[in-house]
Amino acid sequence: MQGYKAFKEKVYKLTGIDLNSYKERQMKRRIESLISRNKFTSFNSYFNAIKRDSKLRDEFINYLTINVSEFYRNPEQWKVLEHNIIPYLLELRSNLKIWSVACSTGEEPYSLVMLLSKFFPFDQILVLATDIDRGALEKASIGVYSEKSLDNLPKEFVQSFFVKSDGKYKISEKIKKRVNFRHLNLLEDRYPNQCDLIICRNVMIYFTEEAKDNIYRKFYNSLSNGGVLFVGSTEQIILPNRYSLVPLETFFYKKQARMKK
Ligand SMILES: C[S@@+](CC[C@H](N)C(=O)[O-])C[C@H]1O[C@@H](n2cnc3c(N)ncnc32)[C@H](O)[C@@H]1O
Repeated sequence: MQGYKAFKEKVYKLTGIDLNSYKERQMKRRIESLISRNKFTSFNSYFNAIKRDSKLRDEFINYLTINVSEFYRNPEQWKVLEHNIIPYLLELRSNLKIWSVACSTGEEPYSLVMLLSKFFPFDQILVLATDIDRGALEKASIGVYSEKSLDNLPKEFVQSFFVKSDGKYKISEKIKKRVNFRHLNLLEDRYPNQCDLIICRNVMIYFTEEAKDNIYRKFYNSLSNGGVLFVGSTEQIILPNRYSLVPLETFFYKKQARMKK
């Protein structure tokens, strides 16, 4: 299909999403398939439609952001977080600032709150959770999930923090209150600072090398001294020293103070 370059520019102006930072082949193929499914025949006619029709626009954003998530995704890494990383961070400081970067529909930040409740009283827990997709953030704040998404979550958490109704699981207010959901575009917006733990999983895979490079540098600036970056299971950082990040455990990197020149 012709006209992708012009489409990317117009989408950026309309939505603030810079498709140039996403891997081109994968993204173009996905969008083409959505266009065909909606019975349009060109990028141009599809763009005019999403410009006019906010429902179609939301569907487009929702489709290209890929919101798949689950509680305790890759459970073995959550064990490392619990037994090694949180205790390591607690040796550095007693109050932890935690940021879940591409939180999708909330499974990740809510999992964090449940895990942190083993270390802190609830009123001392606060997780900042951000995503580019407002639709996903809305679902996250509603907090209703399928049984399947809870498969890896320790059973005691399911029992303590969910209420089952009509085959769905609703998360308790106690957990919900500890997460602050906010819209944030990783490619454009300012990042929070002094984070002790940044959890950024299953989003870097969609970005170009250049975009990833920029994001890792910004994460370095966002971390507190000794703070930890937790990445997805296919997203290990090649040559993390470039970013003054040091592997602590597989999938966990710690910020190393830079030498003064
Ligand atoms: C596959 S989900 C990952 C969810 C969760 N972190 C996990 O590992 O289960 C990817 C998320 O990245 C978000 N995303 C994509 N591009 C983004 C951007 N530029 N800024 C912030 N979030 C973005 C999507 O909206 C989506 O919710």
